[in-house]
Amino acid sequence: MRVLLQVFGLVCLTVGVRADNWEDITADKDIQLTQSSATSLIKHLDDALPNISVDKVVADVNHQMTVKDGRYQWPATKDDDLFDSESWYPQGISSSVDAGDSKYNKNHLFLVSWYAKKDKEKGARISFINTSVSPPKYRHVLLVEPSGTSSKPSFKSVEVHAGGIAWYGNLLYVQDTDHGARLFDVDHIYKVKDGDGVGRQQDGSYHAYGYKYVLPQVRRYTSHGHPKGHDFTYSCLALDRTSNPNSIVFGEYYHAADGDWSRVARFDLDSDTKLFKVNKDNVATASKVFHHGEHRVQGAITVEGRYFLSQSNGDDDSDIIGFTPGEKNSKQYRILPPGSEDLTYDNETETLWTLTEHAGARYLIGTPIKNISS
Ligand SMILES: *[C@@H]1O[C@H](CO)[C@@H](O)[C@H](O)[C@H]1NC(C)=O
Ligand SMILES: *[C@@H]1O[C@H](CO)[C@@H](O)[C@H](O)[C@H]1NC(C)=O
Ligand SMILES: *[C@@H]1O[C@H](CO)[C@@H](O)[C@H](O)[C@H]1NC(C)=O
Repeated sequence: MRVLLQVFGLVCLTVGVRADNWEDITADKDIQLTQSSATSLIKHLDDALPNISVDKVVADVNHQMTVKDGRYQWPATKDDDLFDSESWYPQGISSSVDAGDSKYNKNHLFLVSWYAKKDKEKGARISFINTSVSPPKYRHVLLVEPSGTSSKPSFKSVEVHAGGIAWYGNLLYVQDTDHGARLFDVDHIYKVKDGDGVGRQQDGSYHAYGYKYVLPQVRRYTSHGHPKGHDFTYSCLALDRTSNPNSIVFGEYYHAADGDWSRVARFDLDSDTKLFKVNKDNVATASKVFHHGEHRVQGAITVEGRYFLSQSNGDDDSDIIGFTPGEKNSKQYRILPPGSEDLTYDNETETLWTLTEHAGARYLIGTPIKNISS
């Protein structure tokens, strides 16, 4: 991987200084999320279905990516036509480095989220990608929300945009526009029967639109109301393991015409429970909020105090915007292909990863952080 990254690092950069106004608006304290209780149906699904470890899913990969110019490229084969397909769009990215647990770290894994653009009822799915093998191999797992009753537990698909994901311990945070985030638990992946339906069938078996494994939702976070400001749009999210405490950063997408507010909000995590820190009413309040002038933000992350935004520009190349609190202006680096999305940081290789979503140009791309920190 290091060799591939060096190749990418040779691509020349355009660096511009932006006269913008990043402003710390944390004092407004108006960005809050309410944490739901844990889904009690999980224990009934545990009884009804074989519960499969991440390693077993990854040992059962059934598709293969290609490696080109230092990027991982989705295949354009009959087997899994992801490079060009209009059916599913990739959005979020996270990795075993985010998960930070040795049981996943034996192999380097990427997780990528997709939402169903054509058959919307299929909801969203996660690709588990083994990047310890070259070219990388993967399998898709359907995201599901438990439903039904304790005696007949079932599940349904999850219609979210999945614009950002973060894998933290056993939990996977998945972005849910206008609401906040949903939490899925990789310690409860279930194996189901091959079939066209979803959830519990008449005969007591379970289907998931032909997927072999499902990853169930265990909680959700919903926006709590905003007495002072605009409603926050939860467009993307990323984990910062370099912050103390660890935190999740949400970015807000606005197209230029839609409004003049774009913010980045940080929520602190409890490293034991892996959940957001909440008050006695189960409300989490953003611990840091910045307002900035950038539009079309598709990814937001902080690394060692510095903010990075992934910004798409239609069919033109995408930007990474870098900003350090205390600096007057942010910097723009036009270094990514069109359609850049969510971000994730790998501290072992000091690389910021994103993926690109446009049909006909879908890659996972790593950029050495030194190229965007100067
Ligand atoms: C399976 O279910 C049990 C609860 O019954 C849970 O503790 C365990 O972590 C689950 N996961 C795996 C991979 O065994
Ligand atoms: C991932 O790929 C590596 C290299 O081929 C392999 O050794 C490893 O077993 C794979 N991981 C899993 C969980 O199967
Ligand atoms: C990367 O971060 C983890 C904590 O998330 C830490 O344990 C590890 O030592 C770090 N690795 C490097 C190379 O800094």
